Amino acid sequence: MGVSPKIAPSMLSSDFANLAAEAKRMIDLGANWLHMDIMDGHFVPNLTIGAPVIESLRKHTNAYLDCHLMVTNPMDYVEQMGKAGASGFTFHVEVAKENWQELVKKIKSAGMRPGVALKPGTPVEEVYPLVEGTTPVEMVLVMTVEPGFGGQKFMPNMMDKVRALRHKYPTLDIEVDGGLGPSTIDAAAEAGANCIVAGSSVFGAPEPGEVISLLRASVEKNSSPL
Ligand code: DX5
Ligand code: ZN
Repeated sequence: MGVSPKIAPSMLSSDFANLAAEAKRMIDLGANWLHMDIMDGHFVPNLTIGAPVIESLRKHTNAYLDCHLMVTNPMDYVEQMGKAGASGFTFHVEVAKENWQELVKKIKSAGMRPGVALKPGTPVEEVYPLVEGTTPVEMVLVMTVEPGFGGQKFMPNMMDKVRALRHKYPTLDIEVDGGLGPSTIDAAAEAGANCIVAGSSVFGAPEPGEVISLLRASVEKNSSPL
């Protein structure tokens, strides 16, 4: 199969006061991507970081910065996120129904990889046109908790969405986000997810490197050809 595992610790669970060191620690422990949760206090009831923090972090790492924009107006942030050094720009389909084509084009011309996310209550069919369009998104992020906070419980019924996407799109990057850890990874990997966001399970572990390896092993086991 054409998909490779991408383990993406969610820096929301890191020590923000030591972000550069935390990023280095995760990459040294085998993380592929760093997941950056950008919230505007409007699309979700929490406020986190924005482009200035991405810009600061970029000076300390070459890692792929997988930016998840939980914001009401993603279009307003494309240019600044591109300049700041974001690698991936994943917006929510719920706020891009009218302008996703323009948004995806803008993300690409700003040098970033476009992705689309969907909340637990949003039907998976809503992202199909974005994957099949002439300027398609390159990743679908299936939320497995309500966006806004780390440390919530994984919603196993979201795996139907992952299965449907994997069935339709064998080589698409499919990311899961929320409540992923040693006890939930097999369900996600079996359903077909290959990009795994994990915050509290990685940062809260005595040996975060072991959790990263375990997540990767589960994806590898499930995505290797028979
Ligand atoms: C939630 C964020 C997640 C969060 C995941 O809105 O999108 O990325 O940090 O944290 P855990 O892995 O603790 O559920
Ligand atoms: Zn996220």
